[in-house]
Amino acid sequence: MYRAKITGIGHYVPEKVVTNFDLEKVMDTSDQWIRERSGIHERHFVVEGENNSDLAEKATRNALKMAGKTAADIDFIIYATLSPEYFFPGSGCVLQEKLDIPGIGALDIRNQCSGFIYGLSIADQYIKTGMYKTILLVGSEIQSRGIDMTTRGRDVAVLFGDGAGAAIIERSEDPDRGILTTHLHADGKHIRELWCEDPGSVRNPRLSHEVIDTTAIWPYMNGRYVFKYAVTKFPEVINEALEKAGVSKDQVDLVIPHQANLRITEAVRAKLELPEEKVYSNIHKYGNTTAASIPIALSEAIAEGIIKENSLVCLAAFGSGFTWASALLRM
Ligand code: ACO
Repeated sequence: MYRAKITGIGHYVPEKVVTNFDLEKVMDTSDQWIRERSGIHERHFVVEGENNSDLAEKATRNALKMAGKTAADIDFIIYATLSPEYFFPGSGCVLQEKLDIPGIGALDIRNQCSGFIYGLSIADQYIKTGMYKTILLVGSEIQSRGIDMTTRGRDVAVLFGDGAGAAIIERSEDPDRGILTTHLHADGKHIRELWCEDPGSVRNPRLSHEVIDTTAIWPYMNGRYVFKYAVTKFPEVINEALEKAGVSKDQVDLVIPHQANLRITEAVRAKLELPEEKVYSNIHKYGNTTAASIPIALSEAIAEGIIKENSLVCLAAFGSGFTWASALLRM
């Protein structure tokens, strides 16, 4: 069996920066409240004309550059997003056209904050079995057009940002390097604790003026409930990956958790008794970018030289569903 390895990673965030002070102007919030509760200082928002697959395309081109490949080398696309361009088809097809690589398969997945790791696990299986050689995995989100930017929606609105990350995952003959193990979980009994109910096919028709006037078109989050589960499931799924791979936490060079909230990351770090430098955080710059947060962090940690050749990296995520997941990579 082959091993799957990330050979290129890239990210892109829109140029427009929105600080906490900017949010103070449109809702009753404060820089201090946002920093203390989430660690976020600013986030990036798209401007008119910038769409989900535009961010993905730029991230992809950066990832291809690092891998020394061209778009023509890609033989499968996996696209993780909760904010696709259209209700259907998926953004994988939209990106495929931009990359001008018709004919190959394009799979959209909807696993929210866990989307990138779910996608990594799918890519890993396809490569291990020999079905594909070079897979493009994207996590891309435009949150800014789907949140209630008024005081009513402030508990959710201040947390999220836009951005994209992409990985080129290739077949490798080296048994010791690449994706060592992945672990995926979900528990649908929590769907209503962090969700966006509308527009959906539960209603007939799925969208109406009445629905638009309700808060069901905006994401709802039971913040304290999410916090409680996140700080339990993150360490659990990280330990699961370490146990499966037979490595101790001291051998891990870097843990990259989904960037949900600095307080969640800090609580997870404390539970795992890891030093600060072993748990990556860039949420202060980007907020929570859902499926994009892990590849953006991975891309930055490589660019900053924190992740090097041979580093042992653990990725972990928790999010809506609830879903949670982990992956262990030898770079
Ligand atoms: N600005 C100012 N005040 C606010 C804001 C805001 N943006 N949002 C809420 N408040 C108010 C509330 O209305 C409340 O006011 P009240 O006391 O008058 O009723 C007060 O602040 C305190 O609200 P709490 O809910 O007690 O705040 P808490 O300390 O629980 O923090 C938070 C809220 C940050 C959401 C917290 O519950 C949390 O960290 N939850 C984790 C959820 C999370 O981070 N999710 C990320 C996305 S999901 C994921 O990626 C896994």
